[in-house]
Amino acid sequence: MLSKSRAVARVAQKLSTRLISSKEVFEKEEKYAAHNYHPLPAALSRGKGVFVWDVEGKQYFDYLSGYSANNFGHCHPKIVEALESQSKILHHTSRAFFNDVLGEYAEKVTKLFGYDKVLPMNTGVEADDTACKIARKWGYRKKNIPNNQAKIIFCSENFWGRSLAAVSASTDPSSFEGYGPFMPGFSCVPYNDLKALEAAISDPLVCAFMVEPIQGEAGIKVPDEGYLKGVRDLCTKYNVLWIADEIQTGLGRTGKRIAVDYENVLPDILVLGKALGGGVYPVSAALANDDIMLVIEPGTHGSTFGGNPLGSKVGIAALDVLENENISENAYKMGDIFRKELESKLNKKIVTQIRGKGLLNAIVMNSNYVEAWDLCLKLRDNGLLAKPTHDNIIRFAPPLVINQKELEQSLDIIVSTVNSVSA
Ligand SMILES: Cc1ncc(COP(=O)(O)O)c(C=O)c1O
Repeated sequence: MLSKSRAVARVAQKLSTRLISSKEVFEKEEKYAAHNYHPLPAALSRGKGVFVWDVEGKQYFDYLSGYSANNFGHCHPKIVEALESQSKILHHTSRAFFNDVLGEYAEKVTKLFGYDKVLPMNTGVEADDTACKIARKWGYRKKNIPNNQAKIIFCSENFWGRSLAAVSASTDPSSFEGYGPFMPGFSCVPYNDLKALEAAISDPLVCAFMVEPIQGEAGIKVPDEGYLKGVRDLCTKYNVLWIADEIQTGLGRTGKRIAVDYENVLPDILVLGKALGGGVYPVSAALANDDIMLVIEPGTHGSTFGGNPLGSKVGIAALDVLENENISENAYKMGDIFRKELESKLNKKIVTQIRGKGLLNAIVMNSNYVEAWDLCLKLRDNGLLAKPTHDNIIRFAPPLVINQKELEQSLDIIVSTVNSVSA
């Protein structure tokens, strides 16, 4: 029989990653990982459904969902199963050859969203960049824009990632400062402003307008009803491609399959990411019809990992979960309850605005009373993880599989934490 101390040592060895303290986790990451993020101090080691646990075993509601990549919750059995089983058969080939999963995935994603073709990529920023490349090429080939003069219009406060192209389109100094020179041919108009959009896209050199149906990183900015329909009409009128960046808003997050469904409009290029990989693998996509997508010819664009069997299998599983488990409907219903409860219970001196759709929501704090960061620390202490998007805005975006009981428990935490701030 093993002595007690040897048995304990064995268990400790097996669980060695779990026996590290939160303090040690913070210190190691701080010392060896670049300081390009400012993480809220919570050292997570496990997740299931809407919950995560830190290394000391404290349980939290996850109200960030890995920036909406975990729409289907942590470790969804069907998504994990797809990842596990495909990883043992064929994980990566590159598109130098055909593989027996990409076609099935491509058929599924294109039929579900109503496009002829998908261009598979990995991260969100790559898919958005892809959409811009498709649009420029379309501009030269189909709109006869003189070579190298195509323009793309974005909105102020857009966010589509961290590449040089993405920060070239950004109006946020913390994104672009120190990274110039920037991509030419990019400019911005105010969000939710159809007049400004019309003035910009009537320029015959414009090939595309790229916009988020709800601006996520800007602080969950919801445009007026009719804006998306107006964008569709204007882009059609001026023969400009409408690129909808649904990387954060898509796949059920706002209570519809994609957020443009609220206005029954179809963008020319639809960009998806984040939850398309179920939170377990980076899978992103640019979708378009043949008259647009076929401007991309063999050898002119690509990605080593995009469209590999592993990502494709995970994408199929993620879309199956989205469609078969009433994810969008649940997000719609839970989101409605969430906002109504916050509206009726939060102290309006401390929270000046509650906004969002489905389960993509935010509260705007009155900074005279509390900073968003400090409130997030209090929420963490009370068992809920959320992150500020700006100094005074906190995003609430739990996994879309949250049930009513879990929603009510987490609402109790939010309401009691906010209302404990003295006004
Ligand atoms: C709307 C939107 N587009 C693009 C991106 C970039 O995605 P990724 O970080 O996967 O490159 C994000 C990330 O937050 C996003 O919110």
